[in-house]
Amino acid sequence: MRVDSQSEPISTRLLRWYDASARTLPWRIAPGSGETPDPYRVWLAEVMLQQTGVLAAGRYWRRFLELWPTVQALAAADDADVMREWAGLGYYARARNLLAAARVVAGMGGFPETEVELRALPGIGPYTAAAVAAIAFGRRATAIDANVERVACRLFALDTPLPAGRKAIEQALGPLVPADRPGDFTQAMMDLGATICTPRGPRCLLCPLQACCAAAALGTPEAFPVKAPKAVRPQRQGHAWWIEHDGNVALVRRPPKGLLGGMLALPGTGWSVGEAERFPFDADWQPMGAVRHVFTHFELSLRLFRTQLRTRPPLHSGLLSGEQLIWTPRESLAGAGLPTLYARALALIDQLEAEPA
Ligand code: ADE
Ligand code: SF4
Repeated sequence: MRVDSQSEPISTRLLRWYDASARTLPWRIAPGSGETPDPYRVWLAEVMLQQTGVLAAGRYWRRFLELWPTVQALAAADDADVMREWAGLGYYARARNLLAAARVVAGMGGFPETEVELRALPGIGPYTAAAVAAIAFGRRATAIDANVERVACRLFALDTPLPAGRKAIEQALGPLVPADRPGDFTQAMMDLGATICTPRGPRCLLCPLQACCAAAALGTPEAFPVKAPKAVRPQRQGHAWWIEHDGNVALVRRPPKGLLGGMLALPGTGWSVGEAERFPFDADWQPMGAVRHVFTHFELSLRLFRTQLRTRPPLHSGLLSGEQLIWTPRESLAGAGLPTLYARALALIDQLEAEPA
């Protein structure tokens, strides 16, 4: 029988490749070494790897093991010490959960071995639970991180965009996980994604799975995973008033709550779908164009109108509720700390003023 026949199971091909090419990583037990993994080391690595790449994770992992070589030691640690050592990995909530989980595990006398029980520990999501169950306890669990996701989408040409497509990935991958080496299978998928089936320019010619890969057969591996179309944001409009008097420009401090809360802004109308043209007082209002800004839930087009006045205008009736008026010298606007939207308005005015009439 030819070793590379198409009928050879994916897991066999993958594990043969892993036996020869597994990356050497500090927390990893090399394939074939026969050692029993320490669930504490596995869990610690997986939590850190959700925050950073393998290089940085290695440094933090070694340091934690030096300070707290067992889950009991970590459980007994001072919260402040753990927070300090975690600094740089981001999301302190993760460090708090780490400590909380260590204390629960120490109280239980050791890590639980199933995905379901692991999932019940503080801060352990579906990925970490599956990774620890497979790698530390040899359970047939499917740990799906971004690398595994990409390899699976390509292997089976799965074209449902994520996150909806995750179910199909689990269903396709689950049956492939071999009962005898689930941890190595999981880590082999991760390594393949990190070194061969990379996001751009996958090296299909070097890939152990090429003969059974649907995306490679289609000739379009990079078309997977399929990206969900960008959500169309609703469009909103507003007007901002550039009011100059005696070398000063009228700014407002926005109310503390809400969008751009507490920040400086130009006075103007609110931001609604069809904000009508409206001015706070009669004057010669010159249209100066518009600036756009993308907020999380909508896109704003802010039209800008300028007026220059000899007398200080009765502006208070034009302010929105909670706004405070601040007359600001024209030349100090650039350093005033305007948020991007209003910095763009300032840039627009600067540009128009710089152009010869
Ligand atoms: N990324 C997350 N977990 C990993 C692991 N166990 N090996 C390699 N890469 C990983
Ligand atoms: Fe990825 Fe290419 Fe291998 Fe398919 S053949 S798994 S696309 S590297």
